Amino acid sequence: MRALVYHGPKDVSVDDVPDATIEKPTDVLVRVTSTNICGSDLHMYEGRTDVEQGKVLGHENMGEVIEIGSAVDKVKVGDHVVLPFNIGCGFCKNCESGRTGFCLTANPGNAGAAYGYADMGPYSGGQAELLRVPWADWNALVLPEDATEKQLDYVMLSDILPTGWHGTVLAGVVPGDSVVVYGAGPVGLMAALSARVKGADQVFVIDRQPDRLALAEKLGATPVDDSKGDAVDQIMEATRGEGADRGVEAVGYQAHGPSGEEEPGTTINSLVAAVRPTGGIGVVGVFVPEDPTAKDELAQQGRFAFDFGTFFFKGQSMGTGQANVKQYNRALRNLIHRGLINPGQIVSQELSLEQAVEGYKNFDDRLDGWTKVVLHP
Ligand SMILES: NC(=O)c1ccc[n+]([C@@H]2O[C@H](COP(=O)([O-])OP(=O)(O)OC[C@H]3O[C@@H](n4cnc5c(N)ncnc54)[C@H](O)[C@@H]3O)[C@@H](O)[C@H]2O)c1
Ligand SMILES: [Zn+2]
Ligand SMILES: [Zn+2]
Repeated sequence: MRALVYHGPKDVSVDDVPDATIEKPTDVLVRVTSTNICGSDLHMYEGRTDVEQGKVLGHENMGEVIEIGSAVDKVKVGDHVVLPFNIGCGFCKNCESGRTGFCLTANPGNAGAAYGYADMGPYSGGQAELLRVPWADWNALVLPEDATEKQLDYVMLSDILPTGWHGTVLAGVVPGDSVVVYGAGPVGLMAALSARVKGADQVFVIDRQPDRLALAEKLGATPVDDSKGDAVDQIMEATRGEGADRGVEAVGYQAHGPSGEEEPGTTINSLVAAVRPTGGIGVVGVFVPEDPTAKDELAQQGRFAFDFGTFFFKGQSMGTGQANVKQYNRALRNLIHRGLINPGQIVSQELSLEQAVEGYKNFDDRLDGWTKVVLHP
């Protein structure tokens, strides 16, 4: 089969690799119809993880089931399914309590597994013609009859929509809240959409990419350009000096500081400043325990100086981590089916799998108008 393979920093290609197959009775095999490139893929693409050469990437996958293992009961051949990027077993302590992003079975010795991702287990990704789905009755979400018609919306259930939603859950967003989101990438935009759905009063989205800020505005948020003045000052001014009730971090450890230089603590410390006393902060942007190629020693150890004193004095709370996609994807699927949300509106390019290399390059360069890339193998 054809698949997008990682060879080294900024070196990916679409190669012939052995077909994905059923390996265990609980697997299904999916013919991938849509698979996205994610900001998380860029951490690997840029050589900022220890992902192994030869790995097939792709964790935002949707497709049609073409074969089922002998122990699969619910999922049928011909079903259109969307797969949470997290692979869970369904029976460990964390899966049982809904924390499927931290499955204790799928990636032994670690908490959490995913398709085609560094340190997330031996699973191949779905930027390929075929995908093996483990524990498929648990992991696959079956889609209704409009699966193909609305595929650009449904494929967002694999990651960014539930992840944006998770950011608002971790932050504790309730109706009437003001919410500040750092990052107008796909995840930040989905956090803004989620905050709107949850009845937020004002939603601010901070970035410096004009095309992405324009999308934030289209989703009903107030765009804040941090290259045109301190973003925290702009939030304080817009909230009568109180600060926002809730904040979501949707950037991660490769955040840029005011001068454009990478500065991993900048968004977290800005959120501590921009969120009101007793407010909540949800961190879904990825931070890593080690970052050997970072520029300073602290960052190399996955550390940064945290304004803990201010955080404590303000009595804020913070939640972090991978999104437990399965906690939200069914309900969000229903909102898409009923036409109440259309997350696919942020898709900027639909490419064939053969064009994936160009997709990676342009999305990584944050070329104007490259917000979210969907590949159709
Ligand atoms: N927790 C999870 O389950 C989960 C799931 C998916 C993605 N992620 C992570 O979420 C983050 C965002 O993903 P994405 O696909 O939107 O990525 P992306 O790289 O497309 O977007 C990040 C955006 O942040 C902006 N940015 C950089 N520094 C900033 C700053 N200081 N202030 C404001 N904005 C700044 C960039 O200009 C860019 O538009 C990544 O770290 C990704 O790995 C986490
Ligand atoms: Zn993703
Ligand atoms: Zn599990």
